[in-house]
Amino acid sequence: MNNRKPMLDVLQGREPAHIPVWLMRQAGRYLPEYRSLRATAGSFLTMALTPALATEITLQPLHRFDLDAAILFADILLVPMALGSNLEFREGEGPVLQTTTTNNIDNLKYDPEKVGSVFEAIRRVKAALPAPKTLIGFCGAPWTVACYMIDGNSKNNFAVAKSWVKEQPQLLQQLIEVLIDASENYLSSQIEAGAEVLQIFDSWAGLIAGDDFHSYVIAPTRELVSRIKRKYPHIPLIGFPREANESDYAAYIRETGVDAMSIDHGLDLQFAKRDLQIIKPLQGNLDPALLVQGGIAMTDQLNVIFSTFGKKHIANLGHGVVPQTPPDHVAQMVEHIHRFGI
Ligand code: CP3
Repeated sequence: MNNRKPMLDVLQGREPAHIPVWLMRQAGRYLPEYRSLRATAGSFLTMALTPALATEITLQPLHRFDLDAAILFADILLVPMALGSNLEFREGEGPVLQTTTTNNIDNLKYDPEKVGSVFEAIRRVKAALPAPKTLIGFCGAPWTVACYMIDGNSKNNFAVAKSWVKEQPQLLQQLIEVLIDASENYLSSQIEAGAEVLQIFDSWAGLIAGDDFHSYVIAPTRELVSRIKRKYPHIPLIGFPREANESDYAAYIRETGVDAMSIDHGLDLQFAKRDLQIIKPLQGNLDPALLVQGGIAMTDQLNVIFSTFGKKHIANLGHGVVPQTPPDHVAQMVEHIHRFGI
């Protein structure tokens, strides 16, 4: 037996004592205690940038459920904010970011003081976290963050960002390089503060494919991963190129240098087992709608996932927990996973 952390066991290639589980967006609006804190704090940004609040919210789901990891309560758009872009979260509308144009890329300068509270929250969570639990830090991948910086919001499916791929490749590359530098800095500070695993969220990776995917998803991720690995070889990284096509998922896991890959719920499990899991462990991919449904529909699909991947796997969703999820179903999911294979 080992007394190690199940998350780290899987990420370092060992069989875990039980299948580790955490959920993207495990802290958030489906929890009544989150909604009541949000009502008093006023805004999402106030919560994310106040260490006492961010610490409390990060730990809220771990107080309720036997999750194997905490993910820092923050947002991928804090990096553009630290680069000087104005960021707002509007009620009912989601994030709105000042758009980056041809003229203002040169003005982007990463100021670590703007996100100093994030690193303080990591220190506090780490101090409070029980030994078997793993603390996950994260950032957005350069491509996904560039999408928000170019379009300002997701209303038009990042039409302007996609047009830059074909019409402004040099400008896009310049922005991507700014984001690689800033993300390296931001992730390094998270590690110094106590993050034990990092996840790189490329939520909009599926907007591009083939050569474009290679240029703007794989190459920048590989560069970011290799810079972090050079400085912190012991820190595992998980990549999530959401909604990529099968051959792009396969290229991503082979070429980026990540230690594990998160997969969305659209991906075929037999393909994932045959072409992806033989290379590195996977994370995912229960449909968040099945977590809303709960019961046998959910546990049946979890059984399918685990009989496909076995124990060297990280249980998670194919995307984030949605606000209408009943918390009891999260408890049911976590218990079911921890019972599996014992
Ligand atoms: O996973 C966690 O529990 C940790 C915290 C976390 C948040 N955002 C908190 C959040 C993480 C890891 C993220 C990542 C993030 N943020 C991504 C990548 C993952 C994904 O969902 O694809 C993206 C694209 C963003 C940008 C973002 N932030 C959007 C599009 C939105 C609005 C949509 C929504 O769900 O409201 C946010 C707001 C946000 N980030 C909330 C939370 C808990 C909701 C804030 C609220 O209204 O209370």
